[in-house]
Formats: sequence, C-alpha cells, structure tokens
Amino acid sequence: MDQLIIQGGRPISGIVNISGAKNAALPILAATLLTGNTIRLGNVPHLQDIYTMVNVLNHMGGNVTLDEHANIEINTNHISSHHAPYELVRTMRASILVLGPLLSRFGKAEVSLPGGCAIGSRPVDQHLKGLQAMGADIHIENGYIKATANRLTGATIALDLITVTGTENLMMAAVLAKGETIIKNAACEPEIEDLANFLNTLGAHIEGAGTSTITIQGVTSLNSGHYCVLPDRIETGTYLAAAAITRGSITVKKTCPHLIESVLLKFEEAGALIDTGNDWISLDMRGNRPRAVDISTAPYPAFPTDMQAQMMAVNTVAEGTSLITETIFENRFMHVQELQRMGANITLKGNTAVCVGTHALHGAPVMATDLRASASLVLAGLAASNATIINRIYHIDRGYECIEEKLTQLGASIRRIT
Ligand code: EPU
Repeated sequence: MDQLIIQGGRPISGIVNISGAKNAALPILAATLLTGNTIRLGNVPHLQDIYTMVNVLNHMGGNVTLDEHANIEINTNHISSHHAPYELVRTMRASILVLGPLLSRFGKAEVSLPGGCAIGSRPVDQHLKGLQAMGADIHIENGYIKATANRLTGATIALDLITVTGTENLMMAAVLAKGETIIKNAACEPEIEDLANFLNTLGAHIEGAGTSTITIQGVTSLNSGHYCVLPDRIETGTYLAAAAITRGSITVKKTCPHLIESVLLKFEEAGALIDTGNDWISLDMRGNRPRAVDISTAPYPAFPTDMQAQMMAVNTVAEGTSLITETIFENRFMHVQELQRMGANITLKGNTAVCVGTHALHGAPVMATDLRASASLVLAGLAASNATIINRIYHIDRGYECIEEKLTQLGASIRRIT
C-alpha cells in the first residue's frame, strides 16, 4: 500500500491552483442519470471518488469519457440496469446519490445500503422518507434499498435534520416529478446550489437552492448541456491551513473566497493576514506562530466539519488552548490519536477536543483513517521536526488531486512510496 513520506519543518509558500469540488461533482455526475441527452462537464477533479461514481454509472450502462483536462462527457441514454452494487457503494457512501435520479427517470432503483463508516453511523432515513412522501414504494431487502414508483409526485418535505446528500437526492428526484416539491429545512451548502444551477442549465425549475427552502417545479424531461463545477472550498481551506501551520505565506487561485468565509475568519483570528480577490485568497503568517482558535462545526454557512481535522492540526502547534467541538458526526476524532503520536496535546471530552498548543510536533509513522483525518496528518507532517510516514493514503486520494505535486510546488518535501 502507498505511503507518503514528509520531511517537515519547511514553510509552505507560493501559489497553488484549486481543483473542482468533489462534493459538487459527485451529485452532478449522479444527476446526469436524469437525462438521456449528452452532458459535458468541466473542472471535474481527478479523484478516486469521482472514478467510483463513474464506475457506478458505467455499471448501469452509462457511457462516460474523462480526459486529462478535467472534462467529462456523459450519456446515460442506454441505461440497462438500475442497480448500484454493494461492492461500489461500500467504497463510497455518496453512491446513494443515484437513488433519487434513477427513481425519478426510470421508476425503479436498487441501491445498496451504505452502512456505517469511520466518521459515524450515517443513516439515510431522511432520503427514504422524502422519496416515500413523493409516492415511492421502498423496502429494504438483503442489504439493498429497493424503490419503485410510477411517476413521482411533488410533495412538501420537512427534513427532520439538515442533510447535504439527502437534500440533493430529493432535489434531483423532484426535478422530473409531477407538480411542485418544497424541501424545508434543506441544507444550504454551496454544492447544493451548484447542483441546482447545473440542473437549471438543462431545463429544470429549481428555486431557493442555497437557502433552507427549495422549491422545484417538475418538468417532463431535461436537455443536454455543458457545465463547469465550482471550486473545492475544503481543498482551498486545507492549503491555507498548510501555510498557517508552517508559518508560511500562500496564494490560492481558481477558488471562491465567499465559499469559506467562516474558515477565513478563523485564520484571521489565528493571526493570519488574509487578502482576497474575485477568485483568489492569500494568507500570510508573517513568520508568526498561529494563535489557538476555538471552533464548533455546524451546517453551512458555519464552520464545516470537513475542515475540523485540519484546523485541529493547526491548533496543535498554536499558542494557547483551543476547544474543538464536532456537532455533525459522532466519531470524527480519529485523527486525535495519530496527532498525539506526533506530540500533540489533545484531550477528548465527549464531542469536544481540548487542544493545548505545543511548540513543536515530531514526525512519526501514522495511519490515515478517513479523508479529512489524513489531510490533518499531512499538515502535521509539514510542521513536524523530522520525517512523518503516513500509511493508508488511499483515503487522501479520494479527495485531494495531485497533493504531492501541489505541496512540492509550495516548497514541501513530500514523496509517495508505492
Ligand atoms: N443523517 C441522518 N439521516 C439521514 C442523513 C443524514 O441521521 O438520512 C445525519 C448523519 O448521520 C450526520 C448528519 O445527518 O450526522 C449530517 O450528514 P449529511 O447527510 O449532511 O452528510 P452527507 O450528505 O453524507 C456530505 C459530504 C460530507 C460532509 C457532510 C457534512 C458529500 C458527498 N459528502 O455528507 O463530506 O462531511 O455532507 O457537511 O457531499 C468529505 O468530503 O470528507 C465528507 C465526508
């Protein structure tokens, strides 16, 4: 299995380009199931999770071509199966996103139940409840969600909790449903707005995406179209964190500052000088040690859970003590034990981590446990006094495109051992 070896202690400085957002590209790829016409997508990141979604579409009879320049062409005119198998879904929970589109266009879907994962139990009850409200008949058999419907019918759905992929699944299902669907207590993440913008480009009628109430007027079919995926706000935040933890200075390009305001405010609180333009952000620590900052994760526009582990890494070397509270996933502190092996002083109290900043981390062999946890270990490795060896880095390949190349360009000493 591949490993990353990082020789720490060099400030991260320079310019880096951000890739397209994984969590926008995944639902957009699933949404191509809503039309038999050809779709062309730009700014699609080359990531393991994207390949998994492409495999899911190919498995069902889709025709997908991906070039090296982040473009994808997809045609799902000849879908011959409505089955997303366990072997694919278990490697990526976001495969559940094909459920709504399959049911909406074909009236049937058979998708493996995703099961638990490293960061929490992650049920999909809200997805199912919403689809049932739209007239779907759903039962669970042999670990599969088996759903059928004639034509789905618009409904008013009040989600019991805020769910990102749940909102996306229901929004996609409603696009071809009969009449009006209103999703209340919808998630407001920018990736949901991006999905709605994509669908509207094809002729869907969606209003309010990006707010907590989304209204969809069903249409009978969608057209072909071309769409460019929005930049990845979590990759953006991770590179800013790389500069913050190493007392460096970075300019992040091809991004969108307004997507991560809550994160930028925390970097400012940590002592960084932040400047932004239309599509770039610069962060300069002016050689200073970061100050400890408290964070509490919550749905957008609050501080994202997907940046919690990276901000904790910054806090491990900061001046002072921070409280880091995780409110979205019950088990998203797997990185704590690994950071402790590198000398971090962190104590867990329920869903809060108390982190006392130390002057220096030291390199160690560590184990990546999930995508964002592995990002926090890379960050810690960049700041540590000697070599860090990160095992199980397939987690990082799920969400960070060309991470060694990008960090090397920024002055890091990092290499992959196969
Ligand atoms: N939940 C339920 N029932 C449901 C759906 C969700 O109880 O039917 C709970 C979950 O267990 C969790 C909370 O609601 O405690 C929020 O989960 P959500 O459904 O919003 O998460 P998700 O849609 O599965 C997406 C991202 C995650 C990101 C979360 C939170 C994608 C493909 N994934 O997951 O991204 O952490 O929203 O923002 O969009 C990552 O990129 O590393 C990642 C994990």
